[in-house]
Amino acid sequence: MRRKLAAGNWKMNGTKASLAEVAALIAAHPDPKSEVLLCPPATLVAAMVATAAGRIAVGGQDCHMKAAGAHTGDIAAEMLADCGASHVILGHSERRADHGESSEMVCAKATAARAAGLVAVICVGETEAQRDAGETLALVGAQLAGSVPDGATAANTVIAYEPVWAIGTGRTPTLEQIAEVHDFLRAELVARFGAEGEGMRLLYGGSVKPSNATEIFATSNVDGALVGGASLKAADFGAILSAL
Ligand code: G3H
Repeated sequence: MRRKLAAGNWKMNGTKASLAEVAALIAAHPDPKSEVLLCPPATLVAAMVATAAGRIAVGGQDCHMKAAGAHTGDIAAEMLADCGASHVILGHSERRADHGESSEMVCAKATAARAAGLVAVICVGETEAQRDAGETLALVGAQLAGSVPDGATAANTVIAYEPVWAIGTGRTPTLEQIAEVHDFLRAELVARFGAEGEGMRLLYGGSVKPSNATEIFATSNVDGALVGGASLKAADFGAILSAL
């Protein structure tokens, strides 16, 4: 059985004052039945780890593919681990679009994350134009194949399907469309990784909110969510957590 995972991506939001939301989330959900992960900006990782006190997992939003060196502004996977992070989001569509990250680069980052003992949350997803052109499965299949390193395991890899057109827009695919992609991704993972692929969690991301979480979580091969905007407030994220 795959344990459900509620993951929050704060993106470029949050200051120390925002950690009050983490404390409120923990207070309201002292014993969640699902795994809970929050990924704040790098500036808040260490402080969030302290606030979380082991009650929820904390992750980064990106890491460099190299372990160290002259890469101004970048952060190595080992640095995240050193701050107490246990996960790192990789290949988010905003990184792929804003920083030209290819699947090959994401794969190298995932390998670096594994070496540092971090769980990689690897994102895939199509643009609206790609969906309209009927390219969704081919696109996410290629991203999956290129971004997940050989030897990935259920313990060190989580996949997030995030249609780019659903991120921050309030629009979501139909449940049938989510099921189609998640079933496809599951089949691809099992074909490549066998039992480990069966065990990898598949998260859905893109405008998940309290009002749609229950039906999305009941969809085939959805093992949780990667939540953006609704993860910033304890009440909203807590409601999503309760729906898992
Ligand atoms: O990583 C999270 C996703 O990009 C979803 O963001 O929930 O604000 O649509 P959103």
